[in-house]
Amino acid sequence: MDEFQIDGPVRLAGTVEVNGSKNASLPIMAAAILGPGHTTLKSVPHLSDIEVFSDLLESTGCKTDRGSGDELVIDTSVIDNPVGSYEIVRKMRAGICVLGPLLARFGRAKVSMPGGCAIGDRPVDIHLRGLSALGAQIELRNGYIVAKAPAGLRGREIFLGGSFGSTVLGTANVLMAAVLAKGETVIESAACEPEIADLANCLNKMGARISGIGSPRLVIEGVSELHPVEYEVIPDRIEAGTFMAACAITGGEIEIVNCRLNDMVAVVDKLRGIGVEVEKSSKGCVVSCVGRLKAADITTQTYPGFPTDLQAQFMALLSVAEGNSIITEKIFPDRYMHVAELNRMAAQLRKEGPCVFAAGVGGLFGAPVMASDLRASAALVLAGIAAEGRTTVNRVYHIDRGYERIEEKLNLLGAKINRKQL
Ligand code: EPZ
Repeated sequence: MDEFQIDGPVRLAGTVEVNGSKNASLPIMAAAILGPGHTTLKSVPHLSDIEVFSDLLESTGCKTDRGSGDELVIDTSVIDNPVGSYEIVRKMRAGICVLGPLLARFGRAKVSMPGGCAIGDRPVDIHLRGLSALGAQIELRNGYIVAKAPAGLRGREIFLGGSFGSTVLGTANVLMAAVLAKGETVIESAACEPEIADLANCLNKMGARISGIGSPRLVIEGVSELHPVEYEVIPDRIEAGTFMAACAITGGEIEIVNCRLNDMVAVVDKLRGIGVEVEKSSKGCVVSCVGRLKAADITTQTYPGFPTDLQAQFMALLSVAEGNSIITEKIFPDRYMHVAELNRMAAQLRKEGPCVFAAGVGGLFGAPVMASDLRASAALVLAGIAAEGRTTVNRVYHIDRGYERIEEKLNLLGAKINRKQL
């Protein structure tokens, strides 16, 4: 159980490169199930979530090999156990997205209900509603989803909206089932996140026939089989946004390489609104800010709205802006484990129902704090870099789930972070 010892304040400067997207890699790894043979994925980050997902694929009979650099080779020729076990899925709820491809390829699948996590309940009712619409028989037994489609899956018009809008992995699951279903499937209220577009582009390269990519209406013409593929995943927009917030909270100037600003319009809009300059560069973008940040209101929404995965990081940022800000979390209403920890660092944050009111303070002060989930951990690191004195962030295994060597990257920009093994 490592901890980060962070000394601040520092001003970040220099160049940092963003890895491939964790949230594109995971469903695309599942999609490899649909094309028996060797699929080679490029730009797959070295993260514990990727390792856990590889373990999940290997538990079904697949073979995985990290190849050279950021390559991941997945051999799905022989799958003799279409099961996603509780021991693995409970560690990472994205494991649920093997359900659709296993069901589509084998006509049966058994995957553990994911259970909840620090950011709140993680229901899968919409996943199951969509798969049932394609003709799957779904049963819940001893904590597992048991899905069968003995006569195969059949295309249908499916509405995938829920009370929080669209579902990212729900769209992934139903999309991966629909590509091998007989006939046409229309998914209304599909998630439009770039990671879903990336999955759809990968599936089309495998031989699927998907149109409407990037829109809330996906039309899928079922095909009889898919083939393995070589595919490079898109850059991680959440990692890029985290570095943008890190630059802004320290009043620095950095270049972010391999950053796709087109995937981040809502984030860049918010940054510019509080006084941060974001300019496109030949390699990605340059982020800089001089003077005190201005307060802002942020409401998280499904894409193309402001992403919930950057809410915690931007809360840290707004806690030192001039004036009062309001942060409203519309996707995971309980995603506020970082509030109490930031207040330990002298932030003035007050939760009122789905909102957090932030009264901007002149600066933060280092303190021992506890990481609770992936993005909350990132927010605490950002606060520690900007805070006066020493911050100790415990349980940094949370951060290793979604950021590759974050302390090395930030230290190259001037941060002072020491990873201490306990
Ligand atoms: C994906 O999770 C991401 N994870 C999350 O990123 C991200 O926060 C989330 O999408 C929203 O953008 C991966 O891609 C691996 P949802 P997912 O289904 O698909 C409700 C990170 O930090 N819902 O879009 O599980 C749900 O409770 C992680 O990288 C239902 O009600 O999220 C939530 O309120 C954290 N029923 C909302 O929809 C369902 O069947 C959106 O959840 C499914 C979801």
